[in-house]
Amino acid sequence: MAAKNYLVLLVLLLTDLVRSSDSFERHRLLENGLGRTPPMGWNSWNYFHCGINEEIIRATTDAIVSTGLRDVGYEYVNIDDCWAELSRDNEGNLQARNSTFPSGIKALADYVHSKNLKFGIYSDAGYLTCQEQPGSLNHEDQDAKTFAAWGVDYLKYDNCHTDGSSPRIRYPIMRDALSAAGRPIFFSMCEWGQEDPATWASSVGNSWRTTGDIENKWESMISIADKNNAWAEHAAPGGWNDPDMLEIGNGGMSFQESRTHFSLWALMKAPLIIGCDVRNTVAQDLAILMNKEVIQINQDALGVQGRKVAGDGEQEVWGGPLSNGRFALLMLNRGSDPADITAEFAALGIPSNVSVMIRDVWKVRTGTYNSSITSRVESHDVAMYILTPV
Ligand code: GAL
Repeated sequence: MAAKNYLVLLVLLLTDLVRSSDSFERHRLLENGLGRTPPMGWNSWNYFHCGINEEIIRATTDAIVSTGLRDVGYEYVNIDDCWAELSRDNEGNLQARNSTFPSGIKALADYVHSKNLKFGIYSDAGYLTCQEQPGSLNHEDQDAKTFAAWGVDYLKYDNCHTDGSSPRIRYPIMRDALSAAGRPIFFSMCEWGQEDPATWASSVGNSWRTTGDIENKWESMISIADKNNAWAEHAAPGGWNDPDMLEIGNGGMSFQESRTHFSLWALMKAPLIIGCDVRNTVAQDLAILMNKEVIQINQDALGVQGRKVAGDGEQEVWGGPLSNGRFALLMLNRGSDPADITAEFAALGIPSNVSVMIRDVWKVRTGTYNSSITSRVESHDVAMYILTPV
């Protein structure tokens, strides 16, 4: 065969390879078109726990608009456990708890939609939810239809009171029920990382919890960040690692700790689901939640989860690629004293002869650097940058 023919054969073979890996990718991902960037919104659990009612949810919806949270990208208003009656109706349908949601869930979803926001609900892949309202196990099709009819846009699906079978069996049943119900519903899996969902859940959910519940304090937040970091390579547009919802605004962390919490979640492409009472959030916490450049890092179209790239002990460097050849960089000081931290650009894969334009997204400053940058970082604080090689 002439060399030219070999070349044609090679090109055909390569085209085929690319095509088949493409369709493999498509097959592997949950194909509901949602979660191309991590979801942003609010959820009732971290602050209100079971103390929710329709007035609170409506007022929260209003506050998401009036504070400007909606305008910077927060879109889902999600109710968690405790919204339902403790028994189904005569036809086996879930029903809103009459004492706290007398107008029903459809009316609430309509209200949220009327403010150009989306509405999320909560159920469980077991017989009961964690707070013992009916779960969806063996009622998946019926409940998915109910949610679709109510106008639900997001389902958080918990893992209490199960039949003991693996989440790998129970979660795909709800995935299929949602897809058959005919309304795009973001599927947020909450099996607490028990069966390493990062390794299998991208074909099942749009996000999967990687850890147990966050607590409103530094030690819990930072240990959850470390656990979530281990799964970085598995996050991609359409399917995200979820290290649980934000505690910013709930008073358990200092300003520096809250800023670290938000920066790490943004860098790790985590869902940014606010967990405080947004009707009464102080300006300092709102300013953290509304930092547009940090949000841009989270919502970047490339969708690569940033991770720890250097450091041991108490000073670390985290980072990852962004679209258009840029990078996100974060310096983290876990120690109890201020420290100078140096980030070598090579740790992010930037060649040492390239100069880099650096934007400090918290101090709102710009400068040009070669090969590294050193910054003083307060205790339990971060410095965070967007790097553009020039
Ligand atoms: C837990 C879940 C929490 C919250 C709670 C409600 O399993 O991790 O985020 O949803 O249940 O009972």
